[in-house]
Amino acid sequence: MAEFRKKTIQDVDFAGKTVLVRVDYNVPIKDGVIQEDMRISASLSTIRYLLDEGFARKVILISHLGRPDGAYVPEMSLAPCAQRLGELLPDKVVRFSDMIYGQDAKDAVDALPDGGVLLLENLRFVPDEEADSEQFAQEIVNATGAELFVQDGFAVIHRAHASTDAIARILPSVAGFLVENEVSRLEGAMKNPVRPLLVIVGGAKVSDKQPLIDKFLTIADKIAVGGKIAADGYKNSSPNVYVAEDFAEDGNGNKLDIGPISTKKIVDMIKESKTIVWNGTLGMVEDDRFARGSFAVAQAMGESRDMTIVGGGDTTGYVEKVLKTNGELTFNLISTGGGASLELLSGKKLPGLEVLQDK
Ligand code: 3PG
Repeated sequence: MAEFRKKTIQDVDFAGKTVLVRVDYNVPIKDGVIQEDMRISASLSTIRYLLDEGFARKVILISHLGRPDGAYVPEMSLAPCAQRLGELLPDKVVRFSDMIYGQDAKDAVDALPDGGVLLLENLRFVPDEEADSEQFAQEIVNATGAELFVQDGFAVIHRAHASTDAIARILPSVAGFLVENEVSRLEGAMKNPVRPLLVIVGGAKVSDKQPLIDKFLTIADKIAVGGKIAADGYKNSSPNVYVAEDFAEDGNGNKLDIGPISTKKIVDMIKESKTIVWNGTLGMVEDDRFARGSFAVAQAMGESRDMTIVGGGDTTGYVEKVLKTNGELTFNLISTGGGASLELLSGKKLPGLEVLQDK
């Protein structure tokens, strides 16, 4: 793991203070039912630490959900997330406020008992959020009475929004455990990996993944490329890059998965490596017939005792699904961040991280 260069919740005194925590509860919801809650459960250790060990007075959570484009969209309310959080924290008072700022939000904070957690409504219902408005950030600080800010929404720290950027310029701001853990592991794989380092890249769009491949060309011992990128004829003549060479096809000749030769080669590379980073599924995993390559990679990585990191929304979703029926497999990091992990691994600066206090 790389040394974390920002202050964390272990570096500040929270006792008796109201703390604002940016989480990323952008979870899939269908008909009001949360389909997958990894991002909510990933926020628990920071919330518990603040209340149980830091003796914070109140924890106020802020998040976005989906892309409502500054308008109120009932299906994108965070209310179901507050309910799920309450189930995951049965010993705490967990409440929801449908107002983000103003007197009603202030009343909700005041009514929250000490030791309680309050989740505010979807920040993106207000256009000022994505506009990185300082005034909006200040309104939230005023309504909540927060004295400190904790950034723990790893999946959104590649955005410069009011809740990731402007707010951190108003309050003293540090990283939560989720941000610290994900950034340290991902940066560790880039800066001082235990070698050999293998990076497996899949997915659909070359333009999304080329910066990642470019970044790792000089860092990784091997890069394996599969998925639609490879099926579409991706070429790279660098000696450390292997591009899948055979594919599984549907009846119309569409190449929808890597084939057995490529799968075996990539699995052998996994067995020979000590750090493995995987971003991008290797086939059309929604259809089991075309998930064989990705399943073999998930299995080989999950059985490995070496450093294993999975990033990217589709890939982590697939690995979570595999884990439901293959509970014996383990990974060192299944990143909660899709775009955030890709940007970090591509060597880009993350605004929501840069703005936090340095150690
Ligand atoms: C994600 O799901 O990647 C994050 O929640 C960020 O969402 P966004 O891409 O809509 O900013």
